Amino acid sequence: MERAMGKERPRPLIAGNWKMNGRRADGLALARAVAAGAGNIGAELLVCPPATLLAPVGEALAGTAVALGAQDCHPAPSGAYTGDIAAPMLADLGCRYVILGHSERRAGHGESDALVRAKAEAALAAGLIAIVCLGETEAERDRGEAFAVAARQLAESLPEGAGGTNTVIAYEPVWAIGSGRTPTAGDIAALHGHLRAELAKRFADAARFRLLYGGSVKPGNAKEILAIADVDGALVGGASLKAEDFLAIAMACP
Ligand code: PGA
Repeated sequence: MERAMGKERPRPLIAGNWKMNGRRADGLALARAVAAGAGNIGAELLVCPPATLLAPVGEALAGTAVALGAQDCHPAPSGAYTGDIAAPMLADLGCRYVILGHSERRAGHGESDALVRAKAEAALAAGLIAIVCLGETEAERDRGEAFAVAARQLAESLPEGAGGTNTVIAYEPVWAIGSGRTPTAGDIAALHGHLRAELAKRFADAARFRLLYGGSVKPGNAKEILAIADVDGALVGGASLKAEDFLAIAMACP
């Protein structure tokens, strides 16, 4: 279960998904506190504020070690799509990453694998790094379908142009998000190993993809989770809203 020594690993990514939280003052304070603590951290740090805060947080993070990301984008590059935001607009604001296919969007906005794939294509075309989320529901896990669901979402949500340098995978079991519950280290290791093997069937650079774990990652469990083979970082929701907790998770990276 331990990370294989001597094997070349991608640099871990610790990504904060702020979801629909924060007004300007909170977001700026949080971003500044994360940047202030980023100095000695080996992992790459990323914050993904709500769309309303991308511009001010991006300005606050300019010149720091913390990258900026968005939580969604539209598949079209521009057009008559009221309320939506296109990937080139995010790139124009200084975003490096965009989270796509988060379970809250799959469930709350009916996003299919095909739509997530189209969004990922748009993100890559705009020069963004896509963080494609997937993971089984509790019912699917109980039916023994966790591996099959994750493999199907992986196959159908990744566009042809995906690769280890422009795409990150976040495995987030739906039942672990915001619940305080996590799979066992053994279950995460097995699932991530399965995802890596599935990637290897399709991509020559499968080893370079960062496979994040997400779902109730906290300072108290980060060390164990981040030490698992094939876990190359974390997608952090609730705990990313406190700079101290987010930085403690990042410092737990091996
Ligand atoms: P959580 O959320 O850390 O609050 O469980 C993770 C996510 O939804 O990305």
